[in-house]
Amino acid sequence: MKQKVYLNGEIIPREKATIDIEDRGYQFADGVYEVIAIYQGKPFKLTEHLERLVFSAAELEIECPPLEKLEQECQRYLASTDYSQQNGKIYLQLTRGVCSRTHAYPDGLESVLVMKAGPLGEKPESYFKEGVKIIIRPDERWSRCYVKSIALLPNIMAKKEAKREAAYETVMERDGFITEGSSANVFIVEKGTLITPPATNYILKGITRQTVIEDIAPQKGLEVKEESIALTRFLAADEIFLTGTTTEVMPVIQVNDKEVAKGQVGDVTQTLYQAYRQLTRSQ
Ligand code: PDD
Repeated sequence: MKQKVYLNGEIIPREKATIDIEDRGYQFADGVYEVIAIYQGKPFKLTEHLERLVFSAAELEIECPPLEKLEQECQRYLASTDYSQQNGKIYLQLTRGVCSRTHAYPDGLESVLVMKAGPLGEKPESYFKEGVKIIIRPDERWSRCYVKSIALLPNIMAKKEAKREAAYETVMERDGFITEGSSANVFIVEKGTLITPPATNYILKGITRQTVIEDIAPQKGLEVKEESIALTRFLAADEIFLTGTTTEVMPVIQVNDKEVAKGQVGDVTQTLYQAYRQLTRSQ
């Protein structure tokens, strides 16, 4: 079945969905977004994702429907797709609206809400069983990374570079401290304790990160600390893993050309990724 998309309240065939060339999302990357995983037809942490969308929109003064309306519309759209029964994901984007191109946005614009469902894009099992390589690059982004903005040029350049280096992800470093991946958060394990950079303005407060901190770690009796991680400390960690909606809990065994965590998926990471699987596949 051909998937339909959602455009400002209408659920229509993909080829009928048209966006004005003066949409500020198109001209200025003036918008915010979310990516929500669907497991067996149920969106995972839907409310948390939509709350973050409302928050991101408010930070940028973009008009946004209320949370309840977003939840209803998301469920209504999902019910019209194949993903109401199986695994998938929804991309949700809210742009400021349409106006003749000018930097300072006029007041009172009507925002444009788009949703598109697609396959979850589950990663090969070997990534989780054997671990992945990452590379480290300078963090070239602005200082409001807590906003999930569609302005992603530094992120896409960083991800492309990872691909070029046959790595899964680029983890970024600002002033000698690790921030996050181009589309994932990062944790280390030291003597059984999980450590992740604090949710300052320099990182996105990931929903998967929060799931590990608030749901899984307490359930497994693991301590978590939110602390700045210097690059040297990062490279000496017992274990390293990434978290994200499409990344889930991904073990890292190589940083640049250096083996980390003895080149093996550590026990703590394995426990966490199995618990995450359990949580998402049994909701
Ligand atoms: N990215 N950090 C950044 C910069 C991200 O773009 C993402 C998610 C995360 C993880 O957040 P969460 O756990 O809420 O998915 C961290 C999405 C998946 C994307 O851009 O496709």
